Amino acid sequence: MKLAKPGLLKPWLPVVAILLMAPPVMAGDAAAGKQVYDGKGACAGCHGAGGAGDGAAAVAFNPRPANFATAEFRIDADGNGQAGDDADIANVIKHGAAKYGGNAGMAARGDFSDAELGNLVAYIRSLKQ
Ligand code: HEC
Repeated sequence: MKLAKPGLLKPWLPVVAILLMAPPVMAGDAAAGKQVYDGKGACAGCHGAGGAGDGAAAVAFNPRPANFATAEFRIDADGNGQAGDDADIANVIKHGAAKYGGNAGMAARGDFSDAELGNLVAYIRSLKQ
């Protein structure tokens, strides 16, 4: 068997290049996120079943629970100058809004795995109208 000449482009190089260029975001699964949102997350009680910020407990909070249908996010958790990035949303869920100067009603949920956080982010994004 002949060895390939050194220095030739390897067929897998473009694949590696694409993997390296891909942003390090969690590719969330919105359907799985809905399960968490409606289930153990109990997010709907404040944010509403459809995410419009109109859950039964919403009136108790000022500012109100975020409206995912309008997707107006206000917390820039990672301090990059842009509120509502995937990382901001995941951090607010994980660490709570108070840590970032927001309403303590949005309590920290340290019980979610990174996959669950990514799925919640994907579901929240899917609620935008
Ligand atoms: C007890 C009520 C309550 C529950 C339950 C709740 N939230 Fe919230 N959430 C709030 C309030 C209040 C705010 C507004 C915080 C602020 O703007 O200071 C908020 C804000 C947010 C924000 C937006 C932050 C921004 O940048 O504007 C996200 C994302 C969010 N909640 C996700 C969730 C998810 C996901 C769940 C379920 C795991 C959840 N929340 C459960 C009350 C709640």
